[in-house]
Amino acid sequence: MPKAIGLIGSPRGAKSNSKPIADYLLGKFEGQGFETETVLIYPEHRKDPALKGVIEKLDGVDLVALVFPLYIDSLPARLIRAFELIHKHRKDRKSSKDQRFMAICQSGFPESHQNLLALDMCKCFAELSGFRWIGGLPIGAGAIVGEQNLVDAGGRVYFIRNALDMTAEAIARNEEIPEEAIVAASKLPVPAWLYRLIGNSSWKQRAKKNDLRKRALYAKPYARH
Ligand SMILES: Cc1cc2nc3c(=O)[nH]c(=O)nc-3n(C[C@H](O)[C@H](O)[C@H](O)COP(=O)(O)O)c2cc1C
Repeated sequence: MPKAIGLIGSPRGAKSNSKPIADYLLGKFEGQGFETETVLIYPEHRKDPALKGVIEKLDGVDLVALVFPLYIDSLPARLIRAFELIHKHRKDRKSSKDQRFMAICQSGFPESHQNLLALDMCKCFAELSGFRWIGGLPIGAGAIVGEQNLVDAGGRVYFIRNALDMTAEAIARNEEIPEEAIVAASKLPVPAWLYRLIGNSSWKQRAKKNDLRKRALYAKPYARH
């Protein structure tokens, strides 16, 4: 039975926007006869900073689907550390096994293209570490997932589900992630201005709940004067 691993790169672990995306995709892989496993990088790193168990698992896998949030136009720190450790272990390794690697980067800002640079970093990592890169999906406005199962989340995640369905179908045919899936992943269920409006008002509500004045949201404690 071929094996697929869903790697979650969010520091928020199981309670993240990344996890339901990985769960949905792994469910599709199971339907195609893959044995699947989810690996949460942050908890694993806390248990063992050398990530020995994760590195060993990756040696035997047929397909890796990495899902992570965009952090400062890049990857969360412990995911970068994981890349460094995995690369160090694999760089001189000769493997006859075909190991596919795909990545999904989702961001807070609504413009999906913000994720492209981080996906390029994943491509570099995969190719330098003996995986076969099969493509990446950029998802803007990741908060739309709302840490909820994608099937229960309904119409607001229709485009994400559609992108993941097309990705899984392409993988079943041993093809790369198709352009239509990338286009679907990049779509928003609401206009970007409405997403920003809702986002801004939710930050203000959260500030109020935490006894902060609206002004505190604009504080720049590290700014140089
Ligand atoms: C430290 C930090 C840095 C972030 N940097 C970016 C960024 O550069 N661009 C962006 O669009 N969103 C950024 N975000 C927002 C996250 O990518 C977004 O909230 C994502 O949906 C979180 O996913 P998760 O729940 O899987 O961690 C950042 C969030 C944090 C906490």
